[in-house]
Amino acid sequence: MIHDNLKPFLEELERAGELVRITEPVSVRLEMAEIADRVMKQPDGGKALLFERPVLDDGTVSAFPVGINVFGSLRRMAMALGVERIEEHAERLAGLLQPDIPRGFWAKVQLLPKLAELARVPPRDYGRRPPCQEVVLEGEDVDLRRLPVMTSWPKDAGPFITMPMVITKDPETGVQNLGMYRMQVTGPRTTFMHWQRHKGGAAHYRKYQALGISRMPVAVALGADANTMYTPTAPLPPGIDEFLFSGFLRRQPVPLAPARSEELRVPAEAEVVLEGYVDTTEAPGIEGPCGDHTGFYTPPDRFPVFHVERITHRQGAVYPSTIVGRPPMEDYYLGAATERLFLPLLRMVLPEVVDYHMPAEGIFHNLVLVSIRKEYPGHARKVMNGLWGQGLMSLAKVIVVVDHCVDVKRPAEAWWYALNNIDPERDVCFTYGPADDLDHAARGPAYGSKMGIDGTAKLPEEGVDRVRPWPEVIAMDEAVRRKVDELWGRLGL
Ligand SMILES: Cc1cc2nc3c(=O)[nH]c(=O)nc-3n(C[C@H](O)[C@H](O)[C@H](O)COP(=O)(O)O)c2cc1C
Repeated sequence: MIHDNLKPFLEELERAGELVRITEPVSVRLEMAEIADRVMKQPDGGKALLFERPVLDDGTVSAFPVGINVFGSLRRMAMALGVERIEEHAERLAGLLQPDIPRGFWAKVQLLPKLAELARVPPRDYGRRPPCQEVVLEGEDVDLRRLPVMTSWPKDAGPFITMPMVITKDPETGVQNLGMYRMQVTGPRTTFMHWQRHKGGAAHYRKYQALGISRMPVAVALGADANTMYTPTAPLPPGIDEFLFSGFLRRQPVPLAPARSEELRVPAEAEVVLEGYVDTTEAPGIEGPCGDHTGFYTPPDRFPVFHVERITHRQGAVYPSTIVGRPPMEDYYLGAATERLFLPLLRMVLPEVVDYHMPAEGIFHNLVLVSIRKEYPGHARKVMNGLWGQGLMSLAKVIVVVDHCVDVKRPAEAWWYALNNIDPERDVCFTYGPADDLDHAARGPAYGSKMGIDGTAKLPEEGVDRVRPWPEVIAMDEAVRRKVDELWGRLGL
């Protein structure tokens, strides 16, 4: 089901028994996070929550209910993307990326609808006054403290907006970027903008600086249709418009409207929009600490200040939020969607990749398990190097490569296979490269070492003792399996 905005999605979740309303007053300072954390740790991610009476720091109840954990299970993630299984979108993407160019005129004509699918989905103008601007607050009326912004952990430097869609634009091309970067609220009209150096927003910021343009317009949308809310977390290549990607997922364009400042285009169906600017000549301030998705507090660091000039919102807007902390959390499921959707893209450059998986405990960049169809000596190392050369995959700290027979979505199976197959000195390699900004163990900020583990079965050319052949994995005889399948029901087991 395709939703126009956040509310119909919440209603669908409720009908499906996937959402619990919390009517008790709950403080946005720590209490809400403690409840959400316990729920996110439940099997399969627990339920989505709608806190109807968020209590602000001054003791008043916020006018904005808080939706949290709405993406926090595979089922809800699929519902958000309007499919039964996330893989359906991966299959559509694969079809677009590798269309079998058919022979013959009529066959080619039949290909056109596939290509037309993309042409149909660029964002379109909403046309009328957009719902996200039903209420417009300017000047002294702009007060971020009226929003139910959560403080998640006791040593956090303050409240953080955790589920923003940060919209910036390339000052030269005008192409917009959408990224999810946490925003520490520091006053009624200021926040920090925590775009890390490898991210699209930071690249735009550097470009404004290089061009000597001090006013960098920034808009932050909170809540929209669920597809669009997912896209700022997706590591799309620079220059690819997230709204186009969202249109592809929705199978219909995302309606956009000019922000009131007219500098950027925002999702017309957003719940709340913060409009303002970053002054690229202003010295960055000290952001953090912040309890992060590593499960540790990220230490204070310098980030630019976002000046909020205007808040617009729907009547009765819902404020979307999440918490990050020790995994598993809601962001694991957002990442799981990315993992599935990006497999066809990865296969375009590394066709030998059968599957890959980033387990929750590896918090994305710490561990990537990859299965490949191995064909020649050194193949696993070729894949590691290929992965370290791909976009944000370049931040991966540990890559483990196994053979195609292994289901890497089961980390225990991948480790069993790899650990059996390695001679550590021969099969573990180290290299250096960019590290995730959040990697506190790296030797320097955003730079560190990486480890590749070749857990594939070795070929004679890979330094294997030729006297002892590589052993076979144990597997039961198929005929016996079938017979026991038939017997099973009668065994009382
Ligand atoms: C809940 C959540 C919070 C995130 N917080 C940040 C953040 O504070 N800073 C950051 O650079 N990336 C953060 N990310 C990751 C980015 O959203 C992600 O890398 C995305 O691909 C960035 O988009 P971009 O490549 O267009 O910049 C967060 C992701 C999630 C799911």
